[in-house]
Amino acid sequence: MLAKLCDKKFLPEGELRSFKLGEREILAINAGGKIYCLDGRCTHAGAPLAEGTLEGQVLTCPWHYSQFNISDGSVLRGPAYKPLKPYAVEERDGFIFIDL
Ligand code: FES
Repeated sequence: MLAKLCDKKFLPEGELRSFKLGEREILAINAGGKIYCLDGRCTHAGAPLAEGTLEGQVLTCPWHYSQFNISDGSVLRGPAYKPLKPYAVEERDGFIFIDL
């Protein structure tokens, strides 16, 4: 099911933002003009990943510095060991949609 997340202009390049879609918290990232969407909470202890930092494809958690690959949610460095769930993204008419 596709859900509309936001107008792409609200997610400028380099930006990390959190969105609530029903019960889910989604992290949206604009990395080099490409949009990535992942679960918004760290799998280690639930930190809000929109407050993390991004370097290239590497997202660092703000609490205990686990690192995740934003292209597939895989763990690059612990203490987290469970990957983040990635969501397929579509861009249409300047809007970002994700497949829930
Ligand atoms: S909450 Fe993210 S590394 Fe601990």
